Amino acid sequence: MITEGSNLLPSGNKPGKRYARHILFGLVLVLVVLATFSHNFTLKDQRSTLFPGFLGGHKHPKKKNVIFFVSDGMGPASLSMTRSFQQFTDGLTFDHMLNLDEFFVGSSRTRSSNSLVTDSAAGATAFSCGLKTYNGAIGVDPNGQPCGTLLEAAKLQGYLTGLVVTTRITDATPASFSAHADRRSMEQLIAQHQLGEYELGRMVDLMIGGGRTSFYPKGAAASPYGIRGSRTDGRDLIKEAVADGWHYVGDRESFNTLSEGDNVKLPLLALLADYDIPFEIDRLDSEYPSLKEEAMTAINALSKATRDSDQGFFLLVEGSRIDHAGHLNDPAAQVREVTAYDETFKAVVEYAKNSDVETVIISTSDHETGGLVTARQVSKAYPDYLWLPEVLAKAQHSCEYLARKLIQKKLQTSETSKGNLVKFIKHEIVEAGLGINDYTDEDIKELESLIDTPGFLMDKLTDMVSFRAQLGWTTHGHSAVDVNIYAYSNKDGLKSKILDKLGGNHENIEIGHFMRNYLGLDLKKVTEMIKNTTHTQEFVSSASEENYFEYIPSFLKEIEI
Ligand SMILES: *[C@@H]1O[C@H](CO)[C@@H](O)[C@H](O)[C@H]1NC(C)=O
Repeated sequence: MITEGSNLLPSGNKPGKRYARHILFGLVLVLVVLATFSHNFTLKDQRSTLFPGFLGGHKHPKKKNVIFFVSDGMGPASLSMTRSFQQFTDGLTFDHMLNLDEFFVGSSRTRSSNSLVTDSAAGATAFSCGLKTYNGAIGVDPNGQPCGTLLEAAKLQGYLTGLVVTTRITDATPASFSAHADRRSMEQLIAQHQLGEYELGRMVDLMIGGGRTSFYPKGAAASPYGIRGSRTDGRDLIKEAVADGWHYVGDRESFNTLSEGDNVKLPLLALLADYDIPFEIDRLDSEYPSLKEEAMTAINALSKATRDSDQGFFLLVEGSRIDHAGHLNDPAAQVREVTAYDETFKAVVEYAKNSDVETVIISTSDHETGGLVTARQVSKAYPDYLWLPEVLAKAQHSCEYLARKLIQKKLQTSETSKGNLVKFIKHEIVEAGLGINDYTDEDIKELESLIDTPGFLMDKLTDMVSFRAQLGWTTHGHSAVDVNIYAYSNKDGLKSKILDKLGGNHENIEIGHFMRNYLGLDLKKVTEMIKNTTHTQEFVSSASEENYFEYIPSFLKEIEI
């Protein structure tokens, strides 16, 4: 209270004192009016919208949002590479950091139950079910028994849920939160689960990504969605989903009508490509949204839909194709993928900073891909200590894009005009595409000879870049190196709690445990509920195989012949 002796206003000055009393009286009056006014509002919500923080903190004190970022296949070297790339391209000093760097808390050990080197399925199930399982397992334990996931438990406990990816929505990471399958290649079954065709019914409120292929029939020439459906049971799950109440969005134009989340009706099924959304380096903004647009659309939609609820939402955001660039050993594509992921993370943190709902954001990787090293010995001589980001800056497309372009060109080129093909390789692929001018005739001959073997063709293209940049790759698969953990919360006390639990070096399953405990989820109960869930399907080699070429079938299927 302000008293007579208060030094708020100069004492001994009578008009001043009177003035202070007036102010005080006025202030009390305003407070009383505000309190009465706000109390008379029937919706708690309107009160806190009008007077955020008024009369004590959050509108729903226990309301929580969790946004879980997975940078698929991003190891420490990808971060170092991207940081240096940005410093070079933007002319920044050595102390320029990635947005993520500021939120570093620790590292995660990634092995699966049956291998020191995990795949994305076991890696994601470690987060979603909080247990170690075998490579290829989607939401099932080492015995093949379905295990309750964070997303399912959150939904059953009143949260809204969402999945945002840049690859197929049926791919291992999103699938491990929303489906149960003995093998990751059972993408037809995974699609069914994701739409609610299992014991629990619909658990996902929003899906944005690629992977339309597993939702509509193979060979359906008259399909309204495209010509690359892969379902072998003849079912049109998109049609069924719409009849079931889902709102379907299938292209950029209809995605725009979502107005960045302001105009979303849940449940939302946004399948924006048959397989992958193109790499960021190749992406045409007129045709596909960015990861940031996808994520912000999802967050705005889920925030809006939970505005009047005591429960928030659980959202998975995956930088899916960092991993693909790693498998392809394509550093020019990868630095742009990591940058897009990093920008998305920043936008989401900014969102949380301005939200009055308690929000936890965690970012980690399931594993490293490619065995990337930011150094490479390129001759017998003792190596110089350097690598050259300018080589990546000159490259204008991914090897995936350039290989596709070259294959299409060959299909259109007759035997008699082979000279044109060689010119095309030199000028369009190597000079314009890779930004390389110091190639040899041998390089061009080799590229020409590899057109019929896309895997080797892409390998040659990326190696021309990596060699010149002096970047090393040790594998087309995954590696066992520890990956980083990043975290943010808009609630101060929580930051130290997160550091306490996730700071330092941890097993990947502990990240799942942290989210489970934070949201107070009962995964065991869910596991009990899904005991009888069908988790197997006649093996169908659809979009993915558990090997390095997992993306190549989709790449080939997408070529228009
Ligand atoms: C699973 O199936 C068995 C046998 O049909 C049945 O007794 C049990 O109640 C089912 N469990 C659940 C959780 O549906």
